[in-house]
Amino acid sequence: MKKNIKWGIIGVGKIAEKFATDLKSVKNAQLHAIASSSSLERAKDFAERYDAPYFYDSYESIFQTPDLDAIYIATPHTSHAENTLLCLKHKVPVLCEKPFAMNLKQVQTMVEAARENDTFLMEAMWTRFIPAIQKTLDLIAEGRIGKVRNVQADFGFNAPFLPEKRLLNPNLGGGALLDIGIYPAYLSLLLLGYPSDIQVISNFGETGIDETTSFVLGYKNEATANLSCTLKARTLTEALIYGENGYIHIEGRFMEAKRITLFETDKKPVKFNFPRKTFGYNFEIEEVSQCVREGKKESSKMPLSISVKLISLLDEIRQKAGIIYEGID
Ligand SMILES: NC(=O)c1ccc[n+]([C@@H]2O[C@H](COP(=O)([O-])OP(=O)(O)OC[C@H]3O[C@@H](n4cnc5c(N)ncnc54)[C@H](OP(=O)(O)O)[C@@H]3O)[C@@H](O)[C@H]2O)c1
Repeated sequence: MKKNIKWGIIGVGKIAEKFATDLKSVKNAQLHAIASSSSLERAKDFAERYDAPYFYDSYESIFQTPDLDAIYIATPHTSHAENTLLCLKHKVPVLCEKPFAMNLKQVQTMVEAARENDTFLMEAMWTRFIPAIQKTLDLIAEGRIGKVRNVQADFGFNAPFLPEKRLLNPNLGGGALLDIGIYPAYLSLLLLGYPSDIQVISNFGETGIDETTSFVLGYKNEATANLSCTLKARTLTEALIYGENGYIHIEGRFMEAKRITLFETDKKPVKFNFPRKTFGYNFEIEEVSQCVREGKKESSKMPLSISVKLISLLDEIRQKAGIIYEGID
């Protein structure tokens, strides 16, 4: 079995820097190649800083790299489908940033391509691999808070007004829901499954993107979720999971939490700490590296079926809120 997984990255931006930093902490995995669509200099500088032997000034060129085991796609949302299809055509395993693509139709083409090319594909929903989130799932499975009846989660920060940049630019898939609302949406899916009822309110900014989206989800009269995201205010960015016999508090920022507290009815609260020195991307890198080593085509923890449900939920929320991107259903 091959031990050392050699990674390539497509797109030199903010998240690529964090990913490459955390990759250094993962055993038996290393950065091998980096491709920029805009500048050889940027790729060279990145390669030097993260000890990657290969660098390129086009995404297509990265496939010349010998012994490339996996590619991480770190481009804007609007490029994810195209970049993923390119990698899959070359049969290189893919970890693609969230949101997986702009809509269900695009995600379906990616999933079909992964199956046709018999190649690994996963959405980079790093939250699934954070130890505090795994502990939360374990506590719920043990019945410590009873049946989950309500989930509350938010994600908000005050974004600077940079209309050309990705976050506020509709042509690059900007907006709160797809960028950060995806985290509360994912948590609800993980804990409660797909909702039977969806209520949404969005506020729109100057560039036409949703600056704030609040959504309430219902589950066949058994549970509800109150979720929100905003690019206009710094919020606590925490999650509370209320069960019949207690609740779990996932401290902010919940999607990358280092601590949770369990409150069981009539018992003292118990804190669970998960200190680390990394940003937290190392856990998803370990998962994908291991899947590739074992020749798996999907991760059992973040399977393609969950990504299909997640983008379906985001599509429904967008449709109800009137969040529209040109050329995207
Ligand atoms: N998991 C997380 O915690 C997390 C955090 C932040 C962002 N993200 C996700 O990662 C993706 C990238 O975000 P980011 O903040 O790193 O973005 P960014 O800083 O703007 O970088 C994106 C890079 O993509 C490349 N690119 C390709 N086509 C482009 C285009 N038409 N316009 C602009 N750039 C283009 C550029 O690199 P080259 O010029 O080198 O090709 C650019 O530097 C997003 O989908 C976002 O949702 C995830």
